Amino acid sequence: MTQPTVRILGIESSCDETAASVVSDSRLILSNVVASQVDMHAEFGGVFPELASREHVKAIYPIVEKALAQAHVNIEDLDAIAVTQGPGLAGSLVVGVNMAKGLSLATGKPLIGINHLEGHIYSAWLYLADASPHQVPRFPLLALLVSGGHSELILVKDHLQYERLGGTLDDAAGEAFDKVARLLDLSYPGGPSIQKAAQPGSPTAFSFPRAYLEGTWDFSFSGVKTAVLRTIESLQQEGRRLPVADLSASFQAAVVDVLVEKTIAAADDHDVREIIVAGGVSANKHLRDKMLSESTKPVHIPPLYLCTDNAAMIAGAAYFHYIQNDFSKQDFDVLPTWPLS
Ligand code: KG4
Ligand code: ZN
Repeated sequence: MTQPTVRILGIESSCDETAASVVSDSRLILSNVVASQVDMHAEFGGVFPELASREHVKAIYPIVEKALAQAHVNIEDLDAIAVTQGPGLAGSLVVGVNMAKGLSLATGKPLIGINHLEGHIYSAWLYLADASPHQVPRFPLLALLVSGGHSELILVKDHLQYERLGGTLDDAAGEAFDKVARLLDLSYPGGPSIQKAAQPGSPTAFSFPRAYLEGTWDFSFSGVKTAVLRTIESLQQEGRRLPVADLSASFQAAVVDVLVEKTIAAADDHDVREIIVAGGVSANKHLRDKMLSESTKPVHIPPLYLCTDNAAMIAGAAYFHYIQNDFSKQDFDVLPTWPLS
């Protein structure tokens, strides 16, 4: 007997994207609507929390309506409402959470709170209706999660079974890209700007430090950021024009070398079958290319539109909670549940 289809509405508002999506059975994206506030925050060189929450308030209702319309789904047809409950900016999260609570209360549908990082991991399962489904990731797997707020290595033993092996001790990888971009006078968000600026540059022009932190699965990116700052200062003292392309390429290479080498070492050490790379920084072309060429294990990296924040990943992750837990009683307790372990 075939199982009935499970359709979940996902809502995401943890940072500077207001997003809603309907996903069928954890994988098939029926709609994926994202309203980015990037242009507004670019003016300030980073996310301005107060403005972010106000923009979420304006955007959330039309975005949810659009996601339902594009999926050709009425709210009554949904099986559950899922929402990012953290980590993220408190004033931003609360907008999505209250929208989801309101919808859940009005419809009687279960409310499922999702950890944003868990969402990023499940982005590796998703596909669009006009694409054929790729191979489902196989457990045990290792997830490298690299975003603006996190850089973590997570052992995923099975659905919803996580062991955090390590994470950044200071700046997250995306945060380092954003901060170095600001030092180089490149626009926010820094990751795509540095990737573009690095294209004509040489990754070996400057030898920036690589913090391998032997014996741990932790990361540290504040050293490489400070090394870029010192190099910029001494070039400026000498009255030289900044070689932005070389500085970008050398910085990018230093960060990517550490991410790839540590991920492959952790994957071997824990004898996983496959690797997932997810989160905003997984959009980086150099990281994608190096990971795919150097890993002997299969590597899943989501398409670019699923690397940065979206709600499809929240609805996708929620499916596994929905089928494993009892949601017959409505529960509005969607308090933060991080770290992921
Ligand atoms: O996952 P995400 O959209 O939001 C968070 O959960 O933080 O990640 C955003 C981060 C930003 O720091 C941004 O600079 C970085 O991802 N990013 C990139 C690239 N695209 C986005 N970093 C490096 N290369 C990219 N192409
Ligand atoms: Zn994210």
